Amino acid sequence: MPNTSVAEKFRSMEYGAAPEDPAATLAWLEQFERRFGHFIGGAWRAPAAGGYFPTHDPSSGEKIAEVAQGSAADVNAAVRAARAALPRWRALTPHARARFLYALARQVQKHSRRLAVLETIDNGKPIRESRDIDIPLVARHFYYHAGWAQLLPREFPGLEACGVVGQIIPWNFPLLMLAWKIAPALAAGNTVVLKPAEFTPLTALAFAELCNEVGLPAGVVNIVTGDGTTGEALVLHPDVDKIAFTGSTEVGRAIRRATAHSHKKLSLELGGKSPFVVFEDADLDSAVEGLVDGIWLNQGQVCCAGSRLLMQESIAVALTRKLQTRMAALRVGPPLDKSTDIGAIVARVQLDRIAGLVAQGVAEGASCWQPDLPLPARGLYYRPTLFTNVHPTSVVAQQEIFGPVLAAMTFRTPAEAVELANNTAYGLAASVWSESVNVALQVAAQIKAGVVWVNSTNMFDAACGFGGYRESGFGREGGREGMREYLEPAWFRRAPRLRPARAVRLRRRAAARPTGTIDRTVKLYIGGRQVRPDSGHSLPCRSPGGVLLGEAPLGNRKDIRNAVEAARRAQQWSAASAHQRAQVLYYLAENLSQRATEIAARLAALVGAKEAREELRLSVERLFAYAAWADKYEGTVHSPPFRNIAVAMNEAIGTAGVICPEAAPLLGFVSLVAPLVAAGNCVVAVPSAAYPLIAADLYQLFDSSDVPGGVINLVTGRPAELLKVLAEHDDVDVLWCYGDEELCASAKRLSAGNLKQVWSNEGRRINFFSAHDGEGRWYLEHAFQVKNIWVPYGE
Ligand code: NAI
Repeated sequence: MPNTSVAEKFRSMEYGAAPEDPAATLAWLEQFERRFGHFIGGAWRAPAAGGYFPTHDPSSGEKIAEVAQGSAADVNAAVRAARAALPRWRALTPHARARFLYALARQVQKHSRRLAVLETIDNGKPIRESRDIDIPLVARHFYYHAGWAQLLPREFPGLEACGVVGQIIPWNFPLLMLAWKIAPALAAGNTVVLKPAEFTPLTALAFAELCNEVGLPAGVVNIVTGDGTTGEALVLHPDVDKIAFTGSTEVGRAIRRATAHSHKKLSLELGGKSPFVVFEDADLDSAVEGLVDGIWLNQGQVCCAGSRLLMQESIAVALTRKLQTRMAALRVGPPLDKSTDIGAIVARVQLDRIAGLVAQGVAEGASCWQPDLPLPARGLYYRPTLFTNVHPTSVVAQQEIFGPVLAAMTFRTPAEAVELANNTAYGLAASVWSESVNVALQVAAQIKAGVVWVNSTNMFDAACGFGGYRESGFGREGGREGMREYLEPAWFRRAPRLRPARAVRLRRRAAARPTGTIDRTVKLYIGGRQVRPDSGHSLPCRSPGGVLLGEAPLGNRKDIRNAVEAARRAQQWSAASAHQRAQVLYYLAENLSQRATEIAARLAALVGAKEAREELRLSVERLFAYAAWADKYEGTVHSPPFRNIAVAMNEAIGTAGVICPEAAPLLGFVSLVAPLVAAGNCVVAVPSAAYPLIAADLYQLFDSSDVPGGVINLVTGRPAELLKVLAEHDDVDVLWCYGDEELCASAKRLSAGNLKQVWSNEGRRINFFSAHDGEGRWYLEHAFQVKNIWVPYGE
């Protein structure tokens, strides 16, 4: 507005242009002649094959630079460099590694403006965000993890780095996602091959240069650019020990399948459709500002964006009106302008995807409203969009749009709000607005999401774990739990391989009952009751010498489904106090101890008298141990650098399927089921295939020990068949599988459907007779998931 008078400007309060100067960043690009190779072994390398591809500024469409398209050969070179660097990196003292992480944090701060501008021109996000959010959080992440590097041996005793880590990141927070991945990996002593997203590779390459500037040993960090095929080559590379991925749920699923037959540790941070719940007593003006941050930050291209607005019916009209007024004042414009609220969408394909989903929403009958805002003449822009009259099953209420689109719905009661909030396959984040701390915390606890912000939204800190429930993936980034994703118990990595399981055959001929005994009928145990198997078949159970010990029911798909339903109905177990859970476990131990001689006598036929007695003794001890842990494995209160506390709660995961070890039929069962039960999960367990008769002893014990019906269910049968049903069942939230390599691999592969967490022995032998290997925090860490609830304080 060149001719506007000061008086007119004063009246309209219109902003003038305030562009950030990109000159220094452009000069930096020129130093590389706007063409980048891969960063491998501390040096820039031209691609072995595949050439270069352009990266564009989405606000103008102009080409910024060319980057290398990574081939399998490039990935191989990078993995080899990372492998070669590993021994020296691991051998450094914790303090020496801490110094490198500290230096990286400092270097990011020293070049913060260049990095912020580079991020903005490559991604399209407003400079205000890259300057004030992304880059400061990157530095904070390296500082925080410099601390873990320093404290590693004391705070993570007995754990060691996974090795070479492959990391694949998306385009929405390019440098921040790099920091979330690289900082903990290095702090734990791993070396890294990272592949940035094809739309936004530049800040990762700028970071590579910082690695050299701080003297990071060559090969500790390697960056290979490219598209999905490059990512796939990294995922499939046989010499990678762990994959960490952030991106779409479809690709996450593909990676789960692709890594199933390897021992690669896996963490997935996937999509979301996070609820933003506003109660009638909320401060509505604050909630509106929260929505600006919740759904319009980064053009809504945020995995934890508050994309579903759930309003209590009584305030829906008022809140919608306020929201529309605010939306009309948002500024969509050039990302380098410091007063821009909403910048450019990352790429044409993403813009088309947003427009397509919005058109689908309209076609399904939802009302679409957009403010009449001017958009720049060129570039990829999309107006902030509000859907009302949205049916909860509509595509705009269910699918991740990853754009500046909000879908609003109403509810009447807190219970209905929780139901709507959880009506999604995802579970990444949520935001709850109420002036009543009781309502807010009650609802926060019931929403299935890894992060819940009370009266706030989209707040992040390196100390507070971030990650999802359900199809939002598994694993956490940040905090102590984020470090654990890059570490494994040293003994477990060296544990010997388990021999392949014996085939369990269906009874072909009438089994002779040992003379002089009354037939002992073993049943399944579902929902607190003994039931016959649906199949009407039994399996013989023989001693190693071939003597028939008895017969156990052959459970099938239907029995597992009934058991999962019973477990679902018993979910109140997770709300029982830790003291109550401990009491039940103690009581189980007491009753097991009472009947030890009798159970050991039966078990002796399979494992010998000495081992049977030892199993009984240790099973009692193990139940005591988890009774002890039940009220001592507690959460943490974080103090992030805002006026907030973040309460990291250990929550039960839900329904757990457990395939128990063949050997140590009682102790193996107790070692796996007790930590899950102590954590508040309900269990569907498949007892030892070698000695399924243990089921009868177990359920008599449960009946006499006040275990609520449905908390522990037993289905005997063939592990591979029952595992398939458990793995494919959408209502099973976590699967623990103990078996040979083949069984463990199929547990992972078959669970890709609903992306349930799978924890297995990786086909290795775990010595449950040793408390060091068979009991403790490592088990509990897999029995719980951490939920961070952020609560603000102050006026
Ligand atoms: P994407 O999941 O395809 O890409 C993420 C990263 O994975 C990129 O680096 C990509 O090159 C790589 N990749 C793609 N295919 C791969 C494969 N088979 N194996 C290994 N790596 C592979 O996401 P995209 O296509 O960029 O975006 C599509 C949708 O995904 C978005 O509209 C959004 O809904 C969602 N998304 C979610 C993100 C989140 O943080 N939750 C981040 C990015 C996208």
